[in-house]
Amino acid sequence: MNMHEKFRMERIEGIAEQGKDEEARRLSQAWISHPGLHQYSYNFSWMGRPIIQYPQDIVAMQELIFTVQPDLIIETGIAHGGSLILYASLLELNAMCGGQQNFSVLGIDIDIRAHNREAIEAHPIFQRGHITMLEGSSIDADMVAKVHKFAAPYKRIMVLLDSNHTHEHVFSELTAYAPLVSVDSYCVVFDTVIENMAADAYPDRPWGKGNNPMTAAGAYLASHPEYVCDEMMDSKLLISVAPKGFLKRIA
Ligand SMILES: C[S@@+](CC[C@H](N)C(=O)[O-])C[C@H]1O[C@@H](n2cnc3c(N)ncnc32)[C@H](O)[C@@H]1O
Repeated sequence: MNMHEKFRMERIEGIAEQGKDEEARRLSQAWISHPGLHQYSYNFSWMGRPIIQYPQDIVAMQELIFTVQPDLIIETGIAHGGSLILYASLLELNAMCGGQQNFSVLGIDIDIRAHNREAIEAHPIFQRGHITMLEGSSIDADMVAKVHKFAAPYKRIMVLLDSNHTHEHVFSELTAYAPLVSVDSYCVVFDTVIENMAADAYPDRPWGKGNNPMTAAGAYLASHPEYVCDEMMDSKLLISVAPKGFLKRIA
């Protein structure tokens, strides 16, 4: 075994051990649940655009995107566009390193606010010509048809769900878009962490404990054996908005 392989194996073992550490999991969730951190995911930007993600998940997405080498990333939920710019910039880096040269990032949002659209379209990464934005509900039948048509020429597809976080909506998104994901790629369901938060954590939202992306992902997995939950991602991250949300397509 060479030194690279030795390090890789040691890391896998360390992550597996960490995943069994109930106290580490409890402390991580306690930190995420701390009332003072409610807006924590709003604190960051990617290349100047606000991104509503935890830094840990941003690094996790870099690892997945480098490993999978997708030629199309579909994301529901654009908001300020930081995540679209992130994924497109990572695909630019993959291309620079000899990966897919023809790639796209497709973002869908029910409400692309004018000032966000303007700033996204003015961004140098957008100007490289690989980002498309569609406005409308991600579960609207016309939108689903448009996305499938857009995806048809691509060979290695990754799907990221980060829009409306109710069970019903996310389950509909999974039904619509998870079939597009290529084998060995991922459908990442963000904000599954809602299930682990206090029951009263989202008083002004339609989602909460028992009605959120984690319940939807669980229900989808139960009838879709072509998908498994990549638990190594949870064990590695501990701090993430997507526990049990990294769904890997295996068949
Ligand atoms: C959490 S934000 C997305 C954050 C973004 N992915 C990021 O990482 O910066 C959720 C977005 O979903 C959008 N949204 C809500 N309902 C939707 C729907 N039915 N279809 C598509 N987008 C929706 C909202 O307009 C909002 O911009």
